[in-house]
Amino acid sequence: MTTGPIGVFDSGYGGLTVLKEIKKALPEYSYIYLGDNARAPYGARSFETIYQYTLQCVEWFFKQGCPLVILACNTASAKALRTIQQIDLPKIDPSKRVLGVIRPTSEIIGNFTHTNNVGVLGTTGTVQSLSYPIEIEKFFPKVQVFQQACPMWVPLVENNEYNSAGADYFIKKYLDDLMNQSSNIDTVLLACTHYPLLADKIKSHLPAGISIVSQGEIVAKSLVSYLERHPEIESKCARNGESIFFTTDSEADFNQKASIFYGIPVSAKHLAL
Ligand code: DGL
Repeated sequence: MTTGPIGVFDSGYGGLTVLKEIKKALPEYSYIYLGDNARAPYGARSFETIYQYTLQCVEWFFKQGCPLVILACNTASAKALRTIQQIDLPKIDPSKRVLGVIRPTSEIIGNFTHTNNVGVLGTTGTVQSLSYPIEIEKFFPKVQVFQQACPMWVPLVENNEYNSAGADYFIKKYLDDLMNQSSNIDTVLLACTHYPLLADKIKSHLPAGISIVSQGEIVAKSLVSYLERHPEIESKCARNGESIFFTTDSEADFNQKASIFYGIPVSAKHLAL
């Protein structure tokens, strides 16, 4: 049987925070990462645009032989995943799988809260889709979800400005807007894979005792369980322990910034879509 790498996709660098955790949990598999940096951020784009961009990237992964693609991007998971799974996959290749990050996160987020009040921070697209309130309700009907869009955060991270004094203004602003919605919020979900880089700053602007939840480990654990439950997909995943990286923008930029998200140097190839 032919095997292929697991595809990991994000609009930019954020998905590297997820790939890093997946690699820790499942180091034996092969991975291809694609950051659509030339068209990032996706966050404020229309449904149609995010869907078209994401579908184009998913089709590219399939051409590389990936049996399974993880959308390590909340915005793409919120706006494109369902249509790709229900409409496109049956036509393109029903044996392939595309998974997102919203469902695995929603399945467990209720375990972190004692007050049943959860704050969700995400891009405008993720927040407007209402995917988190809808999904979390299915698993934790008693949990109230308060959402806040943080449109300035991805540009701050992508431009490596997140440690600047100017960043503090926007970090505090959106956190205040979130916390003003409910004083009972005791758990804040970073529902954008770029935000873990802001975690220390976010913590410093929130009242003590609030749990800040990132998605990397959650998605990695969920993938471990998925592969155990789906031997028909697992057996198609190549196992040479290698990762290769592609960006739709400049390789040099990607290599320089990606190591911040990924923790170790990477050497990316350019992809013209
Ligand atoms: N990392 C993406 C997410 O999780 C960022 C989205 C964007 O490009 O705006 O939503």
